[in-house]
Amino acid sequence: MTEIDTSGITLSLKNKVFDIVSEIAMEQNTDAYVIGGFVRDTLLGRECKDIDIVVIGNGIEIARKTAARIDKNIPVSVFKTFGTAMFRYNGMEIEFVGARRESYRQDSRKPTIENGSLEDDQNRRDFTINALAISLNKSSYGKLLDPFNGLKDLEDGIIRTPLDPINTFSDDPLRMIRAIRFATKLGFTIEDKTLSALRTERERIAIVSEERITDELNKILLTERPSTGFYLLDDCGLLEIIFPELALMKGIDTVNGRQHKDNFIHTLMVLDNLAQKSDNLWLRWAALMHDIGKPGTKRYEVIHGWTFHGHDFLGSKMLPEIFRRMRLPLNEKMKYVQKLVRLHLRPIALVQDVVTDSAVRRLLAEAEDDIDDLMLLCEADITSGIEDKVKKYLSNFKLVREKLKELEERDTIRNFQPPVTGEEIIATFNMKPSKEVGIIKATIKEAILEGTIRNNHDEAFAYMLIIAGEMGLIQK
Ligand code: CTP
Repeated sequence: MTEIDTSGITLSLKNKVFDIVSEIAMEQNTDAYVIGGFVRDTLLGRECKDIDIVVIGNGIEIARKTAARIDKNIPVSVFKTFGTAMFRYNGMEIEFVGARRESYRQDSRKPTIENGSLEDDQNRRDFTINALAISLNKSSYGKLLDPFNGLKDLEDGIIRTPLDPINTFSDDPLRMIRAIRFATKLGFTIEDKTLSALRTERERIAIVSEERITDELNKILLTERPSTGFYLLDDCGLLEIIFPELALMKGIDTVNGRQHKDNFIHTLMVLDNLAQKSDNLWLRWAALMHDIGKPGTKRYEVIHGWTFHGHDFLGSKMLPEIFRRMRLPLNEKMKYVQKLVRLHLRPIALVQDVVTDSAVRRLLAEAEDDIDDLMLLCEADITSGIEDKVKKYLSNFKLVREKLKELEERDTIRNFQPPVTGEEIIATFNMKPSKEVGIIKATIKEAILEGTIRNNHDEAFAYMLIIAGEMGLIQK
């Protein structure tokens, strides 16, 4: 779409939209620039589908005119309060805004907005690498406008605010987490002054909505090495404010010379391991929270040393409150994460013993279609430094996977459906819906999981007649 002139400061923009904006801006006697993420990503050679255009004057009008000239039928969404307008074209989202000067009050996120110059607009941006603009004006078309040496910061891999970071973060404290997100995603370093402002300004994150914070956490989780982001959040003291349960996992206790591992470090290793295997955001959340119940269950026992009995159950119980607070979805996504947290010890428990068919069947019946994700999580959970131990666990897991496959093919236990339904039991014994029906169904399920009978209707029906007989029921 866009070709960059290797001299680095003039870009040749190969995109019909830019040509049209340029024409219209000239007709309207105004100036327009591409700015922000699109310029940054283009210079980094990354694809970017969101284009931000800043106009000196009325952005909404230029947006309407541009859309109409591309195709009369393109709908334009106008957000009058923000002075912005947006339309979609060819898979791109193109947003227009009038150049602004913003100032924020200490106690509010609501800015006072006035019209401004391009420079005013660049001044109010978050980072030097996001303040880069490209001219769309006929006389300087393609020229890179870089008042804060953003190009150099891009080359050096530096996250830095254009103005004093205290002001930039105070204007919108979410930028503190954005700094960490960009550092994590791009593998950049946060410049010292910017980093120390993150530390001093951290409390101001309290005025930012949970939705926006969670949106950034999701983006950090989806990077190649999410641990970087969580270590940075911790390092500047933001973690204990936005995710206290996770911050509580830090540290090592010693009693009688016996230590447990640092559960925060372990968790982040698991998260990175998993990130190499899966892009599933919810599986990554499960990795981040799989041991969240550990601080609440930590005990020192003279015989066993440090234990975390029941941390799987406590962890899954803690999730609804965490999801609610973080405005994460309280639907099947939460249930999925809960299930993985609750079951994360089961495959390990399986391989520590002889792997019996019935234990594998029980796991399949509980994990249902999420069994493969659970196995990925458990494999990522092996973070021991002892190579032999890791090898042993991984090869045992291989055995569990084979057993899972074999039993699945034979018994189709996954998504277990009772082979004899309640209605059939009621009809067979001409009985009323009652507790007994549930008992018969549960006993049949138990027999299938134990391997006493196979998972098919004929065997289940014959077995039902036996149990019912023992309960004094007679076939009608
Ligand atoms: N911006 C800002 N402060 C914010 C959010 C955004 O200054 N809190 C500016 C930056 O110049 C940014 C631009 O608005 O480049 C667009 O914001 P956004 O779309 O959120 O981010 P991108 O930089 O495009 O990056 P991404 O799409 O990866 O979020």
